[in-house]
Amino acid sequence: MITPVLLCGGSGTRLWPLSRRTYPKQFAALLGPDTLFQSAALRMTGPGFAAPLIVTHGDFRFIVAEQLAAIGITPGPILLEPEPRNTAPAVLAAALMLAQTDPEGLMLIAPSDHAIPDTRAFQEAIAAAVPAAASGRLVNIGIRPTHAATGYGYLELSDPAAEGVQPLRRFVEKPDAATAAVMVAGGGFLWNAGIVLASAAAVLEAFRRHAPAMIPPIAEALSNAASDLGAIRLDPAAWARAENISLDYAVMEKADNLSVLPFTAGWSDLGGWDAVWRESACDARGVATSGAATALDCDDTLLRSDNPALEVVGLGLRDVIVVAMPDAVLVADRARADEVGQAVTALRARK
Ligand code: GDD
Ligand code: MG
Repeated sequence: MITPVLLCGGSGTRLWPLSRRTYPKQFAALLGPDTLFQSAALRMTGPGFAAPLIVTHGDFRFIVAEQLAAIGITPGPILLEPEPRNTAPAVLAAALMLAQTDPEGLMLIAPSDHAIPDTRAFQEAIAAAVPAAASGRLVNIGIRPTHAATGYGYLELSDPAAEGVQPLRRFVEKPDAATAAVMVAGGGFLWNAGIVLASAAAVLEAFRRHAPAMIPPIAEALSNAASDLGAIRLDPAAWARAENISLDYAVMEKADNLSVLPFTAGWSDLGGWDAVWRESACDARGVATSGAATALDCDDTLLRSDNPALEVVGLGLRDVIVVAMPDAVLVADRARADEVGQAVTALRARK
């Protein structure tokens, strides 16, 4: 059995005004009726999958419980982080928890805010990665790059022409623009999707080798945890002593037992509104509308109103993003929509 480990403690600002500190994007229905978190949970449900282990912030526990109940999924352990300290502490806590009962069991570490439209292809890819993971490798899912993005990790293939799982030559987290351009042009690199299949024992061994100082505080946060209405509240004092670092920097860049599985069936991390528009169901003119929104003679535009009392009408627009929430409206040039994080910073400074 594979235990999905759903990371859902992050909070992004680039999808403001839909993504909020108190209600981040993974819990919003960005594409279709399910939220991204619900889609992620459903993607990792079915034969061969155990109940998901959830790692999230204490503030989100009721949202998590409600959203899983709504799709008929009974969660496994729910680990509550006292404060976000990036993905390495979250993954280590999950690995320690799983190793208590089944060290050789496989964990599928996955973000819960990505779009992967083809669930069947995803499950087939994961099944193909099982033998390598069961033999002690950390298998990373790789995506064919489309441009020299600097916000992703890059996975260097040992044999770019080969198909299926293969050993990874090198993991480079978030290179600068010049390095990324060289990597993409050369064709020997994939983007890191941030999805990893590995045994709990292999994850723990990787931490032992490359980030040993993180183990005592996280083990203590777990052993001093308080059980709280079915969830596990990690001990705040111990948690605060663990380094605030991503799994990629703490472990992946250093490990020498990484493998990569190319995944070509479609993936987006929905990092901004332009990416959401690209993943949305658009009409022949590239227009996506949702909620109380109407487009008249528009092109390549996203119009969305999550406020039933606020009708949004676009007339003659091209390359525009409009997102109306009950308390805020974003109107942006589609090409510049990724800069919306700056607006959030400006708004916070004003308050
Ligand atoms: N539980 C928990 N706690 N989850 C977290 C935390 C935390 O403190 N911080 C982040 N996450 C979750 C986020 O919600 C997201 O789903 C995932 O972990 C990855 O975190 P990001 O902050 O979005 O990472 P990134 O986008 O900078 O980079 C990662 O993802 C890229 C692909 O989207 C890296 O793994 C890159 O190498 C990768 O290319
Ligand atoms: Mg991300």
